[in-house]
Amino acid sequence: KPAYADYFGRLRGMPLYKEFIQNWHNVETFEARPDDLVIVTYPKSGTTWISEIVCMIYTEGDVEKCKKDAIFNRVPYLESKTENVIDGVQQLKQMASPRIVKSHLPLELLPASFWEKNCKIIYVCRNAKDVVVSYYFFFLMVTVNPDPGSFQDFVEKFMDGEVPYGSWYKHTKAWWEKRKNPQVLFLFYEDMQENIRKEVLKVVKFLGRKISEELLAKIVRHTTFQEMKNNPSTNYTTLPEEVMNHKVSPFMRKGVAGDWKNHFTVALNEKFDMHYKQQMKGSTLKPRNEI
Ligand code: PPS
Repeated sequence: KPAYADYFGRLRGMPLYKEFIQNWHNVETFEARPDDLVIVTYPKSGTTWISEIVCMIYTEGDVEKCKKDAIFNRVPYLESKTENVIDGVQQLKQMASPRIVKSHLPLELLPASFWEKNCKIIYVCRNAKDVVVSYYFFFLMVTVNPDPGSFQDFVEKFMDGEVPYGSWYKHTKAWWEKRKNPQVLFLFYEDMQENIRKEVLKVVKFLGRKISEELLAKIVRHTTFQEMKNNPSTNYTTLPEEVMNHKVSPFMRKGVAGDWKNHFTVALNEKFDMHYKQQMKGSTLKPRNEI
């Protein structure tokens, strides 16, 4: 595995994969269409889950149609770029409307066109400690990613914003400030865990659609963790082992709130909480079970 420090470049100070940065001009100048829907998250916050929910709403519960293609093709990852293989911008250009776009970009880096065209944006926020646990295992299973070191090392990098997409604190706080903008729907992963029907209904309303009780039940059934873990079109197992190794840790790993309790030591937790309070001072953002 490559050395951690050499692996990432900086985009306006934010650590990011070098290939993404080289392609940045194409992302920055991306032309949105008014009926684009953008799903934005800090990595590992429930992107795939909300993406599948939206696909089910868009297809009115056509499971066969959703299963025909992998989630990363149905919902292209805007800023992703790898040499000759992945190119989110190109994928989106070739896609018929209405498009669903995935992005992990912080507020200030989301291409201006999405705002100008008045596109709808769904942001999902997840408890920082569960995010860092999920991110750590993701680092281990993504074959090309550098070695994240011990869990404790990785948590410290996360606290310092020295992970791809930078500071979780800045990312979530800035998007939270946008929550009242009618273009934005701000959701919490933990709320989805607690009452998925309620959160799906929020999405349906935000999209200006109606839904039958039958379709709602179908969406809820199709997007449980177990269903999505067993579904090759949502569990990322169709990617080659050179990209992701699910034997190291599956992409669909646990899918719960509060797994951090199994990974943080008491000392690390105290350190994290202290830093967390400083970082979140002055913000009204209160993710569920945050500390
Ligand atoms: S990525 O790579 O940033 O797009 O990953 P992302 O999809 O945002 O986050 C992956 C985590 O979300 C969990 N997940 C789910 N939880 C509950 N229900 C459903 N349906 C679901 N689908 C995905 C997934 O298991 C990852 O979390 P962890 O904690 O690692 O299990």
